[in-house]
Amino acid sequence: MPATVVIGGQWGDEGKGRVVDLLARDSTVVARYSAGNNAGHTVINHMGMFALHLVPAGIFYPDKICLIGNGVAVNPKVLLEEIGSLESQGVSAQRLFVSDRAHVVMPYHPMIDNLDEKLRGAAAIGTTGQGIGPCFVDKVARLGIRMGDLVDPRAFRERLSFVLPYKNAVLSRLYEAEPLAFDDVYNAYSDYAAKLAPRVCDTSEIARQALGRGEDILLEGAQGALLDLDGGTYDYVTSSVPTSSSAGAALGIGIGPAEIEKIVGVYKAYMTRVGNGPMPSELLDETSHILRNQGPRPEYGATTGRPRRTGWFDAVTSRYSASLNSVSSVALTRLDVLDPFPSIQICTSYKIDGKTVDSPPASIAAFDRAEPQLEEMPGWEEDTSSARRFEDLPVNAQKYIRRLGQLIGSPIEVISVGPEREQVIIVDKPI
Ligand code: GDP
Ligand code: IMO
Ligand code: MG
Repeated sequence: MPATVVIGGQWGDEGKGRVVDLLARDSTVVARYSAGNNAGHTVINHMGMFALHLVPAGIFYPDKICLIGNGVAVNPKVLLEEIGSLESQGVSAQRLFVSDRAHVVMPYHPMIDNLDEKLRGAAAIGTTGQGIGPCFVDKVARLGIRMGDLVDPRAFRERLSFVLPYKNAVLSRLYEAEPLAFDDVYNAYSDYAAKLAPRVCDTSEIARQALGRGEDILLEGAQGALLDLDGGTYDYVTSSVPTSSSAGAALGIGIGPAEIEKIVGVYKAYMTRVGNGPMPSELLDETSHILRNQGPRPEYGATTGRPRRTGWFDAVTSRYSASLNSVSSVALTRLDVLDPFPSIQICTSYKIDGKTVDSPPASIAAFDRAEPQLEEMPGWEEDTSSARRFEDLPVNAQKYIRRLGQLIGSPIEVISVGPEREQVIIVDKPI
């Protein structure tokens, strides 16, 4: 099986890092293909607990090659800090490489991100403030600086001499902010470049060579399909392509789309969302508080620490994201969080202006009017965190999982019952 993609099926934070840490053992290469350090992927294993922002979750296996692909926006300072922090915890980052085509997050990007949010006022997106949106805007506007430029001192000076005055004009004239001094930016970024240069190369070549040898490679998505620019709840979305699509997983690492054979969709057993935007099954009562705080890893953002909004499983958006991504296998996470509930609800359709709707509407206004239609199932009120076989789960948990499989429309093959690597059920006969 050449390339497997792991994507988030909801609004991010489904447990992709946890699932990649598990699946990486069967691959030789693990690669991030999109986003930047707006992502926060938590991994808990025998080496400790880690919140990864740029480094792929395959890094804990000393024999795997880890790639940061051309579709990623790289903040070199954050990357160096992440490498330093991993190494201080005994994790070698020696086999980590960064694409020479990846775009660099420059100091004006987080500034513009935060200034833009202020300008949007009530329509603020609730971004992570890491400058990832503005970095991708520059990529599309053909004003970006790429890792290959950064590590070539002459090319970097030339490129920055063109881009920085342009950005300074935007900063001072549009946002009335202080411009940045050329020497400060050039010197700080030249220092990062010198440290990262040995890792910067054509990572797509590494991925293609592994595929040519018949090896399995794993492509680690960030965010979730409902945050995709085209497929998500626009304009409350991110600025890159989290999906398994050709423009996301394949192009973001630089391989052909036909290399992808398996697409694992990671879904929580309920919904969460950080930031603003529609979420029809959101709970605003005590239940929301329980969902957020139940279990070993409460629902607070791994990047910003913001409390995550919580709600019942939304089968409308989940079925849609499975279909949009051609999900061939589902990994269901955080089942244990539902343990204390005497009854559990699933949103199976929406009612919008009196009509039953079973696919997500395009407009935010329609989304805002959507009333979730709920199906109730009995809970199990038992601890599931030590189950390792499907048969070990309480009968009502088995019924709930089967119902989700039916509603998503793709087979469930992995069930996570805790944040640690071994707290998992690999299902023999997919559900
Ligand atoms: P990602 O961005 O998709 O990698 O997900 P995050 O790491 O941002 O958020 C997922 C959170 O759930 C992390 O704190 C994980 O440690 C935790 N987690 C993953 N799987 C499980 C699970 O099955 N049960 C519980 N209780 N926590 C889990
Ligand atoms: P992982 O990979 C959850 C959300 C932000 C905001 C919107 C736009 O950990 O699942 P951005 O900074 O990207 O311009 O913010 O997208 N967002 C995420 N939410 N998990 C993530 O990543 C996210 N990355 C971005 O909260 O609503
Ligand atoms: Mg996350």
